[in-house]
Amino acid sequence: MNIFSRLTPRNIALLLSFMTIFLLYTPNPINNTTDSFDDSIFEASCSCKTCIMGFMDDDWFVYRYDPTTPALLNRKNSAMRRDTYKWWRGLQPSTFRVNYSEVVDQLFSLFPDKEHYSDAGPDRCRTCAVVGNSANLLGSHYGSLIDFHDVVIRINKGPTKGYEKDVGSKTTHRILYPESAVDLDNSTHLVLFPFKIRDMQWLISTFTTRHITRTYTRVKSSINADENKVMILHPAFIKYVYEKWLLKHGRYPSTGFITILFALHICDQVNVFGFGASSTGTWHHYFDKTRTHYKGGPHGGDFENKTMHQLQQRNKISIYKGYR
Ligand code: C5P
Repeated sequence: MNIFSRLTPRNIALLLSFMTIFLLYTPNPINNTTDSFDDSIFEASCSCKTCIMGFMDDDWFVYRYDPTTPALLNRKNSAMRRDTYKWWRGLQPSTFRVNYSEVVDQLFSLFPDKEHYSDAGPDRCRTCAVVGNSANLLGSHYGSLIDFHDVVIRINKGPTKGYEKDVGSKTTHRILYPESAVDLDNSTHLVLFPFKIRDMQWLISTFTTRHITRTYTRVKSSINADENKVMILHPAFIKYVYEKWLLKHGRYPSTGFITILFALHICDQVNVFGFGASSTGTWHHYFDKTRTHYKGGPHGGDFENKTMHQLQQRNKISIYKGYR
């Protein structure tokens, strides 16, 4: 009897089952090679459990994220392309005639002229909390979770005093502009969001002559802050966020959105708190009843929200929704 005469339907079924089990449990040498190869390349970008730069295999993220655009200004990277300078100067046209390179010279004769945060590498795990000013923080009890991060970035006037349980008490960085300035303690980096060249002049003035008391409105002529911890967002970074991340929605990014991008560029892990409406649909601050305009206004708020949720879906940030 030859072998084919034994191929009854029952034997064929048995043979197929054996083959399936064999294929499932036999290690595939090609896959094995690729797995260990992947690990050695991708896992090395930082020492956190997940890294922002971990798997650069997401086309959506790779298209937008440009690590070569400097987030912070220094003397060496201060020169800008003509179109970038024009866009930035057009944001809030100023009647004041100023020479940008002179302002840069003054800035960096006062404040640290460094290449900040160029220390990314396989041994670093910098965790960052970005704390927005939404009322959804009230009742959240996020305070100790927020303070647990290496870097805690707060925005504009968002206070901690009296709200520690929900927002924490640590502030390593505060992003602000002249019209939103508050006093800082000596452990906090002041990070200027320069909408206009006048904002850079204001920064110089607050630490020297204190003669600038107005921009388009009254501003503080001086603030408490450690001048050795001052940083300035690069105008080219603002344009990059506007074009690459917001695809030109709105007129320019909100302070909150630019802060998230700043964190994505200097941290290995980013957790976001205090963004969005409260569960009742209101867009208040946690510290006052002013209605904010982040659902529209000059910032393309809806698009910012969608982009933040995309970042969350792609495991680049985690958004903590809060309580209210
Ligand atoms: O109002 P302010 O600009 O100081 O708030 C800082 C940031 O917090 C905003 O730019 C916005 O991104 C975020 N925010 C929010 N929802 C609120 C209030 C503020 O998303 N209700």
